[in-house]
Amino acid sequence: MSSLSRAPGPRAFVIGHPIAHSRSPLIHRHWLDVHGIAGSYEKIAVAPDDLDAFIGGLREAGFVGGNVTVPHKGRVLELADAVDEAADAIGAANTLWFDDGDLVAGNTDAIGFLASLDDEAPGWDGGGASAVVLGAGGAARAVVHGLLERGFEVAVANRTFLRAAELAEEHEGEVWAYSWDELPTLLRAADVLVNTTVLGMAGQAPLALDLSPCKRGALVADVVYTPLDTPLLAGARSRGLRAVGGLGMLLHQAVPGFERWFGVRPEVTPELRALVEADVRGR
Ligand SMILES: NC(=O)c1ccc[n+]([C@@H]2O[C@H](COP(=O)([O-])OP(=O)(O)OC[C@H]3O[C@@H](n4cnc5c(N)ncnc54)[C@H](OP(=O)(O)O)[C@@H]3O)[C@@H](O)[C@H]2O)c1
Repeated sequence: MSSLSRAPGPRAFVIGHPIAHSRSPLIHRHWLDVHGIAGSYEKIAVAPDDLDAFIGGLREAGFVGGNVTVPHKGRVLELADAVDEAADAIGAANTLWFDDGDLVAGNTDAIGFLASLDDEAPGWDGGGASAVVLGAGGAARAVVHGLLERGFEVAVANRTFLRAAELAEEHEGEVWAYSWDELPTLLRAADVLVNTTVLGMAGQAPLALDLSPCKRGALVADVVYTPLDTPLLAGARSRGLRAVGGLGMLLHQAVPGFERWFGVRPEVTPELRALVEADVRGR
């Protein structure tokens, strides 16, 4: 991009491959407008073979940082000068920024997950300490990291047991792996249940799970946000359980990046939520 075509002010980005689906520009451009900041947030498709050169050229291009999505979340850990504690534990980064000239790779998904529950189910972590996480992929690793931070013991059940076992092995004594068949027993003891699989997402099979063993007062969260209301959440609400969808996690994970790049801590407001909800519904 020629320097003549650059927007004035700090430049941030989201990179991925593909990247067309990303809703991050909607969020960050909204905050740039709200705060009257003359900066930019650019959506850039970067193929895997071009990632090293893109990251190597960030300073010269005048970027202050940005977001990273699939398939680059692991490789950027090796390209950055430093890795924050969450990205190190989760094994993936979603946010890049400069600290005193060093490129830092961080992960804000656990922060986003916790903030969404704090916001939408206040006191959710006060009553118990037992969580069940469905799935053992990237989102699961962030959710488990967040739950451990809040003092939960975590049971992970995954279609591929080996991946759950690997996650449990990394957190010996705090995380245990189970097979899907053991869910009815696990749910009886769970204060919090989180779906981090793709099941229930538009275009995927629904998550077929009998919630009848769940404790009264249990919280059910789904990181899926397309659709906004998944069958799992509807099922939880119909049983009188608290239910929190994945959109809040998406919105809240964006806060730390924006603050680092543009120097203002933005808020997740009803206005922002309505904007992104409309975009998800319009898909
Ligand atoms: N709200 C947010 O901010 C946020 C953030 C990140 C991700 N997400 C959402 O989280 C979901 C997972 O993303 P991810 O990055 O963790 O993906 P991922 O790393 O590819 O993991 C996918 C998970 O889904 C499981 N799975 C896939 N197909 C399945 C099936 N047919 N039956 C049972 N389990 C199945 C996988 O199990 P196996 O190990 O057996 O393959 C794995 O546990 C997506 O819907 C994504 O949009 C939301």
